[in-house]
Amino acid sequence: MLKVISSGLSPNTKATDVIIALEALILKRHWKDPLQLHILKKWFASRYNSDQVYLFNSGRSALYFLLKAAGVTKQDEVIVQAFTCIGAINPIIWIGAKPVYIDIDPQTYNLDPDLLESSITSKTKVVIVQHTFGIPAAISKIKKICQEHKIILIEDCAVSIGAFVGKKEVGTYGDAAFFSFGRDKIVSSVSGGAAIINNLKHFANLDELYREILEPSSNWVYQQLLHPVAMAVILPLYLIQVGKILLVLLQKIKLISKPYEELEYSGGKPESYPRRYSPALVPLIMHQLRQLDAMDARRVFNASYYGENLIKGAVYLRYPVLVKNREQILNKAQRAGIYLGTWYDSVINPAGVTLSNFKYKKGSCPVAEDIAGRILNLPTYARLTVREIKKVRDIVND
Ligand SMILES: Cc1ncc(COP(=O)(O)O)c(C=O)c1O
Repeated sequence: MLKVISSGLSPNTKATDVIIALEALILKRHWKDPLQLHILKKWFASRYNSDQVYLFNSGRSALYFLLKAAGVTKQDEVIVQAFTCIGAINPIIWIGAKPVYIDIDPQTYNLDPDLLESSITSKTKVVIVQHTFGIPAAISKIKKICQEHKIILIEDCAVSIGAFVGKKEVGTYGDAAFFSFGRDKIVSSVSGGAAIINNLKHFANLDELYREILEPSSNWVYQQLLHPVAMAVILPLYLIQVGKILLVLLQKIKLISKPYEELEYSGGKPESYPRRYSPALVPLIMHQLRQLDAMDARRVFNASYYGENLIKGAVYLRYPVLVKNREQILNKAQRAGIYLGTWYDSVINPAGVTLSNFKYKKGSCPVAEDIAGRILNLPTYARLTVREIKKVRDIVND
């Protein structure tokens, strides 16, 4: 049977992840075990040399927590790049602060550092730097500007865990950083996230604020653990439609979760954010974190089939290409069982959201808008065979 190839659809779930999820579901392993959270915190503390690690149900919860702890209020402005997603913007909106969008550098799809200084006002409190597709941003230059203007720098490492700039990993440059364990990220426990603090002087009441955050519901934990099990059934049946129908059905009856709740598409804040992480998910995420460097190396290896001039230190969660005839390529690929990614086919993904709800003014970031009209993402995940990668490449190049 033809295997589905997809940039999304839980690309790094393997048989071992399904077994771990089943164990947690059936034996109810570690559901209330604080030692599990300690193990995960220790991994981050040791890798990033940070004593302050906080765990959440998502990257968005982690960012919301960091903005609160940084003292961001309704009066403040937070600088972000266009060419991003609602998950990265909503926490700013939820606090009531104003997101100020900066255009991107077309070489890296990241915030253009040459545009930063002119966007800073007396209200700018934080700059959030995203490392898009696992490609590192010009973080040293941005950090210098932030330091000169006494602005807090937060690194959005949601899609770039393991990427490097020089000898230092992304996540170690900012005053703080956050990570995502979302379903189509570099490492995944379906949902989840972490925040690390590198420079305590900009953040206050961290422990008090964290204590106020609720645990996730048991229902949510069930949904996350069922996801890899469901995908093990869905993926082999995806191309004969049965898998696709099953996925929609399971999401509809809420046996598994969707990536966003309805409210979030218009900037609303569901009750489920922010929440803490669950110990029940730690075995899943630790299993992947232990393979992180090997998985990232494999992604870079796979990306090398798509292009020659890879950016040093990038980990290529997805390999971006710009095309003229996107719809045609997407359709042709689908007919061959390949679902290419479309991050970010709107300056704020997903396409179709009302940009003014996220305080984005049309025409304000022309490079990001142009690229959003031409972008496609090719899959790089470790399970792909070289034959499959060449098949993707041929379809796009044809
Ligand atoms: C760049 C970026 N930042 C932040 C987030 C939010 O992460 P999460 O989905 O874990 O809340 C995402 C999610 O897709 C993202 O792509």
